[in-house]
Formats: sequence, C-alpha cells, structure tokens
Amino acid sequence: MKVRADQRFKNVYWILNGKKQLATKNLVPGQKVYDEVIKHIKGIEYRIWNPYRSKLAAAIHKGLRTFPFKSSSRILYLGIASGTTASHISDIIGDSGIIFGIEIAQRVLRDLLPVAADRKNIVPIMESARRPQNYCWIIPEIDIVYEDVAQPDQASIFIRNSDMFLRKGGYAFIAVKSSSIDVTLPPRKVYKLVEREVASAGKYKLIENVELSPYDPKHAMIVFKKL
Ligand SMILES: C[S@@+](CC[C@H](N)C(=O)[O-])C[C@H]1O[C@@H](n2cnc3c(N)ncnc32)[C@H](O)[C@@H]1O
Repeated sequence: MKVRADQRFKNVYWILNGKKQLATKNLVPGQKVYDEVIKHIKGIEYRIWNPYRSKLAAAIHKGLRTFPFKSSSRILYLGIASGTTASHISDIIGDSGIIFGIEIAQRVLRDLLPVAADRKNIVPIMESARRPQNYCWIIPEIDIVYEDVAQPDQASIFIRNSDMFLRKGGYAFIAVKSSSIDVTLPPRKVYKLVEREVASAGKYKLIENVELSPYDPKHAMIVFKKL
C-alpha cells in the first residue's frame, strides 16, 4: 500500500492499493466520523474520502479544477449536517483554519457535536441559512462558502450569505440537487437556472460546473468566484 499527495490539491492524498482511493490525513487520530475506512501508512492515519458519501469527494473524482481549501481557510458551510464532508475539509484546513457550520435540523446537529468537540476547527451553529442576520455577529469575513442544503431556493440562500460574508476573490461551491429545485426539468436545465440566478446578482463569476454522476446522479457542484 502506497500513498501519494495529490499533484494539485494541498493536503489531499491518494492511497494506492490495487485501486486508487481519495483520502485525507486524520486531524484527530483514532476518531471516525462516519463509517469511513481508516488506513495506517508509515505511522500516519488516513481517512478514505468516499465519493458516494461526500459530494466534494465526488467532484474531485469527476475532475474538479478549483480547490481553494488549504491551511488557515475560513469557511462558511451551509447545511453541514453531521459533518461527513466537513470532517474531511477539517482535515485539510488543519488547526489554523475554521469552518462555521450552519444546520437547521436538531437531529443531525446532535451527531455533529462530538465531532466538533474533538475538532476545534468546526463551529456548529443551529440556525436556518435563510436567516444569516441571526448569525452575522459570529461570522468573520470568509474565504469559501460551501452550500449543500438541497432546497428549492438554494441559489437565493447562497447569494444572501455570500453577499454578507464572502470576501472579494473568495470561492463559493454550491452542490445542486436538481430534483429539489424542479423535478420536472432535465437536470442540466436546472443547473443553468441556478447559474443564471447567481450571475444575475452581478457579483459572482461562474468558474465551473461538475456533474457528479455516477456518485450522485442528478447533482452538480457549481463553483463561483466573487468579483
Ligand atoms: C444533503 S444534506 C448535507 C450533507 C452534508 N453537506 C455532507 O456532505 O456531509 C443537507 C443538509 O442541509 C440541511 N438544511 C436544509 N435546509 C437548511 C437551511 N435552511 N438551513 C440550514 N441547513 C439546512 C438539512 O437539514 C441537511 O442536514
């Protein structure tokens, strides 16, 4: 079994073991967050990053080109749930970075609490992402907004939050579930609707759109940069 650092993305690894599996170095050795596979190589603990469980991992497998996550990144995560994807971002950004995680559902947030107790770079906030005015007092200027809320108005939720918190030149990732927006339209038409709505705000440039099939059929990761 061998490990290779990704050529383009900092703190992202590939474990080579007959197959090629995406992984991050465990920031909290011994801690599992979901049912991820753990590998020990030369005294270092890696967590396999499952593209069927995390849309960001799926996007990397599907050729994502933009990856601003690095040590000391400040991230606003809308729809953090129990922290599956956020825990890998937490591994990547390390102790000098921070993730403010907004989640509306009490049940999943309860599962995030022990994860955040061990990972000092995750701050869970129970609130609706539709009400950024209720958490603006705790959020500083942000480098990356990551949104995965699967809601029909997710473009407008994204715009409201990014207008308030994202720095100029910062990046925004929107995981779009087409059926949450319009189940009657073909997914690509839905992605275009989201792209147009965000572009119409006049502050965001479309960088790329990565379709996540076969890991997450009818989902895309759309990336914008704030002008
Ligand atoms: C698809 S899950 C997120 C999975 C998570 N991003 C991951 O990859 O680990 C969507 C989450 O968004 C949350 N959500 C939905 N509407 C929300 C809102 N208005 N504000 C905050 N969270 C919301 C849901 O409760 C759910 O936990």
